[in-house]
Amino acid sequence: MTSRRDFLERMSLAFGGVAIGGPLLAFSPKTKKNLELLIAELPNAEVRNEDFWGFVKQAYSSSGSLLNLNNGGVSPQPKVVQESFIEYYKLFNQAPSYYMWRIMTKEIEGVRQKVAEFSGVNADEIAFNRNTTEGLDTIIHGLNLSKGDEVVIGNFDYPNMRQAWNQRVLRDGIDLKIVQLQLPMNDEDEMVQAYVGRFSKKTKYVLLTHVINWTGQVLPVKRIAEEANKRGISVIVDAAHSFAHLDFKVSDFNADYLGTSLHKWLCAPFGTGMIYVRKGKISELWPSFSPPDPRSDDIRKFENLGTRNIGAELSIGKALDFHELIGSQRKAERLLYLRNYWIQQAQDIDGFQSFSPNNPDLSCALATVDIKGVEKLGQQLQAKYNIHTTDIHHEGVDGVRITPNVYTSLKDLDRLVAAFRSIASKRSKSQE
Ligand SMILES: Cc1ncc(COP(=O)(O)O)c(C=O)c1O
Repeated sequence: MTSRRDFLERMSLAFGGVAIGGPLLAFSPKTKKNLELLIAELPNAEVRNEDFWGFVKQAYSSSGSLLNLNNGGVSPQPKVVQESFIEYYKLFNQAPSYYMWRIMTKEIEGVRQKVAEFSGVNADEIAFNRNTTEGLDTIIHGLNLSKGDEVVIGNFDYPNMRQAWNQRVLRDGIDLKIVQLQLPMNDEDEMVQAYVGRFSKKTKYVLLTHVINWTGQVLPVKRIAEEANKRGISVIVDAAHSFAHLDFKVSDFNADYLGTSLHKWLCAPFGTGMIYVRKGKISELWPSFSPPDPRSDDIRKFENLGTRNIGAELSIGKALDFHELIGSQRKAERLLYLRNYWIQQAQDIDGFQSFSPNNPDLSCALATVDIKGVEKLGQQLQAKYNIHTTDIHHEGVDGVRITPNVYTSLKDLDRLVAAFRSIASKRSKSQE
């Protein structure tokens, strides 16, 4: 049995004693061992173990006063990732073209391998870029589509993706079929049927947003993809909000294409993202920035981006090390626990309403809520309580989106609920 003192010592070693050394900045074996031991001794308990998560918090540079509950927009990076990025920056500034182009571009292959293993796919199916917008736009604009071809998308897909498809409507005359979801939805079958109902013989592609950014609704992507595959429809997954947040492998979906932003839940440097393209589909997908052979089946043809931020990309490996120390399952469970923790407490606030589902299989860290009769809830949280959130207005969802992260403590969430309570009580008084 681990005593509390042993536990704290090990945590301190695991998260506080992270060693920086060498260009790839690996965690020291001692650090790794300590964390592994610790986790082995605390099966499942650490989801609620505030000591464990307190040390995770120490690994980030969260602000003392501002409470950041918009981790859905973009995540902060653990200090080890920040340090890695800065170390590369300094090194490259000694001789940029030598270090960036001759030495470090080779190191990217190691990162590609690591990310591919984590995703359950082959390294020659992963290309790095700046974000989901760049990745999915490359895919949407790179597909061979003709007038009359149908593509199924959803009314809650992200605007940048819907805009890219709209451009293809204007340019090529494709037909967009839009699934009308009414969120929140707690029934998987209903969601699957909503998509299947839009499939026809002319459908070539379906875009599936794994976690819907407006409310944190999770789409049963695997099941919808199975239905699409049965009908010969190619699946494109927008995993901007699910990668390194929900516990899954890219290979689970049998999709042909996927895009994600690594600066969201993987907590990699800002401006890092990736696409997955199934090996057999690479040659027929046109790259946006033309390489020598645009019909090549080498995934690197999508990385012909000119001069870029190599230090940010190399630090993806460091972010993945950190993520794996916590573990995908543990992180997903903790994030859901945090969401449930504050929502349960806020339930009895008069007028409190949630646009996010109750079904845990269709829920995640993000949740969008409102308090009836309260004007400008998000602005009040910021101005009076120094709590940063984001306002949501889309398809009948009008509220504030609350997104904790692994460094968010229960005390932070108590502070949020107290702010909600106080705002609601002031509203009630002004209406008396
Ligand atoms: C579902 C979804 N897709 C795509 C994006 C775009 O991400 P990025 O700005 O990193 O390109 C977002 C951003 O929040 C998103 O929520």
